[in-house]
Amino acid sequence: MLNNQSESKLLLENKQRQKWWRHRPAKIICITFILLTIFVVTLSLVLKFVVFAPPKVETSTTTTTTTTSVITTSTSTTTTTSTSTSTTTTTTTTQGSGWSDTGHMNGARSYHTASVLTDGKVLVTGGYNINVTLASCELYDPATQTWTTTGNMHIERYRHTASVLTDGKVLVAGGSTHSSWINSSELYDPATGNWTITGSLNYPRNMHIATVLKNGKVLVAGGIGDRDTPYSAELYDPSTDNWTKTGDMNRARESHTVSVLTNGNILVTGGTRGSGNSAELYDPSTGNWTLTGSMHYERQWHKAVVLANGTVLVSGSIGTNTAGYTAELYDPWTGNWALLGGYLNKPRFYHTASVLTNGNALVTGGCHVTCGNTAELFNPATGNWTIIGNMNNMTNGRFRHTASILANGKILVVGGDDQNEIYLKSAELYQPL
Ligand SMILES: *[C@@H]1O[C@H](CO)[C@@H](O)[C@H](O)[C@H]1NC(C)=O
Ligand SMILES: *[C@@H]1O[C@H](CO)[C@@H](O)[C@H](O)[C@H]1NC(C)=O
Ligand SMILES: *[C@@H]1O[C@H](CO)[C@@H](O)[C@H](O)[C@H]1NC(C)=O
Ligand SMILES: *[C@@H]1O[C@H](CO)[C@@H](O)[C@H](O)[C@H]1NC(C)=O
Ligand SMILES: *[C@@H]1O[C@H](CO)[C@@H](O)[C@H](O)[C@H]1NC(C)=O
Ligand SMILES: *[C@@H]1O[C@H](CO)[C@@H](O)[C@H](O)[C@H]1NC(C)=O
Ligand SMILES: *[C@@H]1O[C@H](CO)[C@@H](O)[C@H](O)[C@H]1NC(C)=O
Ligand SMILES: *[C@@H]1O[C@H](CO)[C@@H](O)[C@H](O)[C@H]1NC(C)=O
Repeated sequence: MLNNQSESKLLLENKQRQKWWRHRPAKIICITFILLTIFVVTLSLVLKFVVFAPPKVETSTTTTTTTTSVITTSTSTTTTTSTSTSTTTTTTTTQGSGWSDTGHMNGARSYHTASVLTDGKVLVTGGYNINVTLASCELYDPATQTWTTTGNMHIERYRHTASVLTDGKVLVAGGSTHSSWINSSELYDPATGNWTITGSLNYPRNMHIATVLKNGKVLVAGGIGDRDTPYSAELYDPSTDNWTKTGDMNRARESHTVSVLTNGNILVTGGTRGSGNSAELYDPSTGNWTLTGSMHYERQWHKAVVLANGTVLVSGSIGTNTAGYTAELYDPWTGNWALLGGYLNKPRFYHTASVLTNGNALVTGGCHVTCGNTAELFNPATGNWTIIGNMNNMTNGRFRHTASILANGKILVVGGDDQNEIYLKSAELYQPL
């Protein structure tokens, strides 16, 4: 039995061996193929990580970039990066929220304009620098953080306006030379970098407002000029390149503000020339102006921005009263103004105001007795203003400067002066939280 069993076992093994040998060629090919595959995979891995490995510097750059993006996305929490090296800590301070220098213009200027073009670059036009009115213009490229000159305007201008038209061209209108008020307007073509004189305003004007309507026309209103200029308003039609008069405002205004409401109507507020605390609405469909609710304070050289929920935030004013410290909100649905309980930490006029992508409003610089380098944030959720800490001060006090919201959400602050004939070339970027 035992023998038989072992015999049959041997027979079976033999049969299996014979079976194996019978398919020998196919199996050898199969094994060779598997071995080859393993060899090729191993070789490619060796090539990738040893032979074609990137140089050491590049590796560390990659690491830094990765860590930075992690930090950037979590800037609202405090910097808690135990894994980051000293290199990444340095990156954190420059990449985190706050101010950083971003080169400087070729010439110092205040009372200029700054417009974000459709390609993301920023066009700065004209302005004023120690008794000289400027025709020069410059372009800021956010990608390289560099400034280059572009075509000069035909006429030097300050206290003018600039509006980006729907076709991407930029319309500058009016302003002042050193000796007179201007009625001409010009178009900048970003494709060529050149300026072309276009239709003339019906009234010369400076310290006016300009805004692009939803129908693509440009509304200007008020300002210093001829006798009727402060009441007057006119429309630029890009399809005919000319200006036509539209309804007059109910109050004379210069140094007022303009905001486009979500329903397409235009709100102007305050200004000098006796407009006091009044505000009025322009209806593009009728061409008429109607007074709306009055602000709690008279305001001149103040600023207005439209918040995410459609209400309009005005802040600051010239003068020694409390208006410079205060802000109020306009509700387009009721036509009423609400004075905010939270005061600005610094009184301001000739400051800038911008709405950040996170919904907070940023005001920068401006003056009140002295010119400040401070900036503060308005939080719509609390209704309060917070000074951005000392570490994040703008490097220069600024007045009559500009602030532009870049496509990457940063705010570009440019030029201005300090009221003592110090005119600024410098530019800086605010990186929101
Ligand atoms: C600018 O003009 C004012 C008034 O005419 C004059 O007093 C001042 O010296 C001028 N400044 C410069 C730098 O030319
Ligand atoms: C831009 O203006 C300059 C100087 O007037 C001129 O030489 C150039 O041909 C113009 N370029 C275009 C594209 O119009
Ligand atoms: C613009 O002003 C110039 C001179 O200042 C004048 O000759 C011209 O008639 C004005 N144009 C209009 C449309 O008022
Ligand atoms: C402006 O253009 C319109 C439409 O082409 C025309 O009717 C009007 O006469 C023009 N006005 C001026 C001042 O050129
Ligand atoms: C616009 O105002 C004018 C002058 O006050 C008036 O005659 C006209 O009826 C108004 N138009 C509308 C649509 O309100
Ligand atoms: C809009 O936001 C402001 C600021 O948070 C708030 O005071 C106001 O009540 C809001 N208004 C509306 C109509 O939502
Ligand atoms: C806003 O400021 C007021 C006045 O300083 C203060 O009483 C209030 O607590 C602040 N609210 C918040 C949410 O910070
Ligand atoms: C920021 O501004 C404040 C007030 O002007 C000043 O006291 C402080 O020294 C400034 N800090 C920096 C870093 O410039």
